[in-house]
Amino acid sequence: MSNWLVGELGGEMFDWLTSEENDAIGMLKRDHDRVKTLFEQFETAERKAEKQKIAKQAIQELRVHSAIEEELFYPAVREHLKNGVMNEADEEHHVAKLLIAELDAMNADNDHFDAKFTVLAESVRHHIKEEENDMLPKARDLPIDFRALGEKMERRRAELQATGLPPTPEDTMVRKVRTKGPVPEIKPASVIK
Ligand SMILES: [Fe+2]
Repeated sequence: MSNWLVGELGGEMFDWLTSEENDAIGMLKRDHDRVKTLFEQFETAERKAEKQKIAKQAIQELRVHSAIEEELFYPAVREHLKNGVMNEADEEHHVAKLLIAELDAMNADNDHFDAKFTVLAESVRHHIKEEENDMLPKARDLPIDFRALGEKMERRRAELQATGLPPTPEDTMVRKVRTKGPVPEIKPASVIK
């Protein structure tokens, strides 16, 4: 924002805008925008290698985003919001994580890879719409310090990026079905830095 505009809006207004953009809700929306951009790039990419690279990046973003939401954001708002909204979000995360686990276990040359990623993108776009049109506006009115929560979420993001992500129950589930034998040890997913 230019200094001129800051002057026009006044210091107080600027502070308010800054804190809302930088808090937990603003952070989730920025994550959503990043992932939607990756979906668009995937759709317009023509070369297979390019599509695979974009899909890998989107999956990594989604893994980190959903871990942070489930560990920190959802529990904080679940205390106040009705279970209906939150349970639906849980189920949408579950579907996305199942598709992600299948994509990660799949050879990128598999001719269903693109189709599965497209279904993941459609499902996540729907989930983002529901969060941004319903859950997040409701959350905004709650007596929660979203600034402090956002800082906690950023710290957790850095931690996950440094240590790698633990496998989700969906990863274990998919691996079990595919091997039809004892579940092998699953190494944390690699992290794009
Ligand atoms: Fe979510």
